Amino acid sequence: MVSYRTPGRAVLLLTLLTLFLLIQPAEMVKHESFKTCDQSGFCKRNRAYADNAVTQSSWESPYALDPQSIVFSKSQLHGVVLKSIAGSNEPVRLPLTITFLESGAARVTVDEEKRQKGEIELRHNSKAKKERYNEAASWAVVGGLKSSTTAALSSQQDNGFTKVEYGPTKGFEAVIRHAPFSVDFKRDAETQVQFNDRGLLNVEHWRPKVDKEPKEGEEANKEPVEDESTWWEETFGGNTDSKPRGPESVALDISFPGYEHVFGIPEHAGPLSLRETRRGGDGNHKDPYRLYNSDVFEYEMDSPMTLYGAIPFMQAHKKDSTVGVFWLNAAETWIDIIKSKSPLNPLSLGLAGSVDTKTHWISESGLLDVFVFLGPTSKDIMKTYSELTGYTQLPQQFSVGYHQCRWNYVTDEDVRDVDRKFDKHNIPYDVIWLDIEYTEGKKYFTWDPMTFGDSIGMQKQLDLRDRKLVAIIDPHIKNEKGFRISEELKGKNLAVMNKDGNIYEGWCWPGSSNWVDCFNPAAIAWWKTLFKYDAWKGSAPNTFLWNDMNEPSVFNGPEVTMPKDNLHYGNWEHRDIHNINGMTLVNATYQALLERKKGEIRRPFVLTRSFYAGTQRLGAMWTGDNQANWDHLAAAFPMILNNGIAGFPFAGADVGGFFGNPSKELLTRWYQAGAFYPFFRGHAHLDTRRREPYMAGDPYKGIITQALRLRYQLLPAWYTAFYEASTEGSPIIRPNYFVHPSDEKGFALDDQFYLGSTGILAKPVVKEDATSVDIYISDDRPYYDYFDFTVYRGKGSKTIAAPLEKIPILMQGGHIIPRRDRPRRSSGLMRWDPFTLVVVLDENGHAEGHLYLDDGETFDYQAGAYIHRRFVFDKSSSSLVSEDLAVKGSKTAAYLKTMAKVGVEKVVVVGAPAGWASKSTVTVTEDGAQSSTAELSYTPPEGSKAAWAIIRNPKVAIGHGWTIDFS
Ligand code: GLC
Repeated sequence: MVSYRTPGRAVLLLTLLTLFLLIQPAEMVKHESFKTCDQSGFCKRNRAYADNAVTQSSWESPYALDPQSIVFSKSQLHGVVLKSIAGSNEPVRLPLTITFLESGAARVTVDEEKRQKGEIELRHNSKAKKERYNEAASWAVVGGLKSSTTAALSSQQDNGFTKVEYGPTKGFEAVIRHAPFSVDFKRDAETQVQFNDRGLLNVEHWRPKVDKEPKEGEEANKEPVEDESTWWEETFGGNTDSKPRGPESVALDISFPGYEHVFGIPEHAGPLSLRETRRGGDGNHKDPYRLYNSDVFEYEMDSPMTLYGAIPFMQAHKKDSTVGVFWLNAAETWIDIIKSKSPLNPLSLGLAGSVDTKTHWISESGLLDVFVFLGPTSKDIMKTYSELTGYTQLPQQFSVGYHQCRWNYVTDEDVRDVDRKFDKHNIPYDVIWLDIEYTEGKKYFTWDPMTFGDSIGMQKQLDLRDRKLVAIIDPHIKNEKGFRISEELKGKNLAVMNKDGNIYEGWCWPGSSNWVDCFNPAAIAWWKTLFKYDAWKGSAPNTFLWNDMNEPSVFNGPEVTMPKDNLHYGNWEHRDIHNINGMTLVNATYQALLERKKGEIRRPFVLTRSFYAGTQRLGAMWTGDNQANWDHLAAAFPMILNNGIAGFPFAGADVGGFFGNPSKELLTRWYQAGAFYPFFRGHAHLDTRRREPYMAGDPYKGIITQALRLRYQLLPAWYTAFYEASTEGSPIIRPNYFVHPSDEKGFALDDQFYLGSTGILAKPVVKEDATSVDIYISDDRPYYDYFDFTVYRGKGSKTIAAPLEKIPILMQGGHIIPRRDRPRRSSGLMRWDPFTLVVVLDENGHAEGHLYLDDGETFDYQAGAYIHRRFVFDKSSSSLVSEDLAVKGSKTAAYLKTMAKVGVEKVVVVGAPAGWASKSTVTVTEDGAQSSTAELSYTPPEGSKAAWAIIRNPKVAIGHGWTIDFS
């Protein structure tokens, strides 16, 4: 592809190219670099299979479960699915396992029976492993596999069906039809999820390559034959993919009867509620959604094209019910989505017919391995899915603050200068980032001596304000003689191999490169040694990591990545593991950060561009190379929300836009939006103008500073939301359907969201020249403007003024929001600051909330070193109480001691009762101490603004139990 990605060697060329790009209008995505379904052999074949099945009335799926083979034991059903083949009386044997898990999830696995050695010879004398890839679970799944103890064959078995009752209260049922094989998953007797109901199940079995050319004298076969043109070899963009095992795709239709919306399967730039992929038509995509981790240059909006990461997890939602599926396969995958309206029943007296969503999942190789979640809430599903793939890492506190990045800060003095300027302008930030130019000639683990000769001195300056450094390390290792890392990589045989078993060579930032194969345990062990302080000289305890280009991006590779017939550890083909590849690098880096120095045990921080199900355990992601325009600003929230409900909520987008120069208005609005990204980082391309917040000029600088301060003010709420993600799997910013599962009007909303369980409802402006936004409210609670307490009542859309300086934020009545109101220069410097509690009363005068707090750095919280309080304001007793939610451990007491002096400096009560007008004090009782009084001042309602009261300095510790009595 022609892009800015010219290998580093050609500096002159790069400069020319840069000039060229600067005078060119913004480019569009290069469609020709990436396959459409039609250009991807197995996708085309499976779509054709589906067309055939749907259009032929006589179609019957050739898969049948052999009733003789069924064995049910210990919550597992085993059997053999027989695939009949035209013209053969030897069916293909596909072992089936359905496991019913204690969590209520069910797992369906279909493998292919191993053949006799020699029966399936690999073509091309390949070294590729002759098995279907069966290790995806060992990377993605870390728990939750305990079998149910109660799942049982149902007493009512019909002929031709096997039924299993399962689930927490046995309210779930799997109805397995033997022929054709299909499974219906029911909750409370209603079908929620169907497998192979449309008969699209297709396991392309392994077969020897037969020469189909008619021999001389023989008649050519007149039967219509399958399209075999891409079975053994496939060419795209000048690259030929050899397929030693031949065709081996797995595909299945999964239907959600009665469900109108499906969400998830990131990463795509498009709406949260996924579109239909009907090959065009109004609002529909032409191609299926694709999952094949790729470095897509200048990606386009509202597209099913693949992006950098893949999470094959989908939720379907209808009024009061959410279900989900997790398609555990790491190969290239396509997902078709169609919706069909059930005909209106004439007896339904005008009630609308329901919509069914029907999906078709197609993967190039590997097992068919699918988990089914029956909810009934999205929260339930997220919990169960997270038990399986792991909870979001509880990150270090600093990583929830603001990150300042650009490609590139050019010298250590440049970094010091930016750091000083943030201070001079009183703007908070926590982390400054170094992109690839800090290295000597793009050799990772080196520092350019001309520009970063004093990285340690630079980091000492950052330390003064408790700030951190993040440096980039990519997986491509410069292929250069004498470069120690390169020589070790090759010498120890830890690199990815090409199909012939030689070290694979391709092009990336450094020019000629080789790729570390982090599937290999020995490569992980080696990778760990590289991060030790005495190995990576110039790094320090406050250096953290950025892993980029790990799809992997290969500039001269097919579809900008590695050839699929490359070989990884264990001789698995790259084809089999592609979507997991990026995560294995993050895993190795995470492990390395845990072991930089003996005895130094702090939580790692790693940012990744590529990801798979499970990467949430290891770090944060961002949405890659976006553009400095309004469309990209608007696209970021749907993408982040989608990532959140797919179990990976620590997500953000480059604030300001990566390519191009944002207008000041756009930059300002982007900071206001970024203040609500779980991962909040400003970043920009090499060719862009500098745009640190302090450079924006008036009034922009002040407005951006306010947005940053708002983020810091709400850090206690953010950190608590991260805690919820790390223990319950819930998203950090939550879409409307998640919070209001009954309100159909809100299901597709993806431009407004709630922050954790705080009741904060935000809709940052993402449109140019906007002066107001319409926020949709799903319930009848009072909602208050965050800044001036204007109250909004009643379900429906509310127009909120949004001049440039304003972020539209409401607080839902019924919550207590923890804040820290003293502006500081970094989150570390807020460690001992007092708290403010904002009590937002609901229509009944009630409010509740919680706060989670720990040292923000170590793993001591696992031994009880944390504070977890529940705050309740109760109308009947007219008191605010702080209750303990923590489970004590060996480090609780010591931690609480360090926090003894951290108190509450303010309590703000929004929607305060009129009776408080005559009040000037409240009584405060802290556990075990004498009661005292604190001052209350009341502000009466004014116009549309609610009454509020403030209690100053109640002198209670945040970690203690106490009561503030308002009666
Ligand atoms: C990739 C990343 C971008 C980074 C650049 C140079 O394009 O997505 O964030 O700045 O590489 O490392």
